[in-house]
Amino acid sequence: MKIYAAKDYDDMSRKAGNLIAAQITMKPDAVLGLATGSTPVGAYGQLIEKCKAGDIDFSRIRSVNLDEYKGLSGEHDQSYRYFMNHNLFDHVNIDKARTNVPNGLAEDPEAECRRYDQVIADMDGIDLQLLGIGGNGHIGFNEPCEVFEKGTHVVTLTEETRQSNARFFASVDEVPTHALTMGIQNIMSAKKVLLLASGEGKAKALYDSCFGPVTPHVPASVLQLHNDVVIIADEAALTLIRENTHWESMVYDN
Ligand code: GLP
Repeated sequence: MKIYAAKDYDDMSRKAGNLIAAQITMKPDAVLGLATGSTPVGAYGQLIEKCKAGDIDFSRIRSVNLDEYKGLSGEHDQSYRYFMNHNLFDHVNIDKARTNVPNGLAEDPEAECRRYDQVIADMDGIDLQLLGIGGNGHIGFNEPCEVFEKGTHVVTLTEETRQSNARFFASVDEVPTHALTMGIQNIMSAKKVLLLASGEGKAKALYDSCFGPVTPHVPASVLQLHNDVVIIADEAALTLIRENTHWESMVYDN
């Protein structure tokens, strides 16, 4: 794990945008694993700017998103398909037929999970998986639990996650109770992982993920076992890590 310190959200977004852009430049037909949430919005803004300036080309890029709420259609303004269209796909020259988000309305969600695993397998691996992190250490919608779930699966969202995502809905009652999410093995199979964290609310989850035991109780801690993880975190998210005696061996200031 390498942790790059960013001054603030904008600095984190610029650094992340540069790394993703470099991936696209080096491999124009790359498979990008994409994430939702407020954290990557700034990085997507950077990619839109770079694409509009002619610096990067999405025409051969394929993508797989981490997750989707169960029960929401792609047209629902809080669905992750809608989020991706609105925050990235509608503004760059990506072919939407090459973009994948689990179908939250699938009649048979288990079959949809197997289909999604096959989509990922057919892509021959994710080149760069972008991740945010939940305040409880979740990645995608892999919530703290007793085992690391391997493939795409249906998950019951924790009350904490529903409360924290309620800010995007009219009320917490409207936040779906379930989601479809890539599993830990899907994420760990990515060639490179880029995790972004911003704000004090992520400080404990980030600290536990980087320095605590590898445990499904803190799903992001599994990333300690991946051999190519880059974390870009702003100073607010780094507060607990800065207090750790070993932080200098892992944090790169620039
Ligand atoms: C959701 C998503 C995660 C995301 C998390 C944090 O639960 N499924 O992929 O990392 O929220 O969201 P935010 O970036 O808004 O803090």
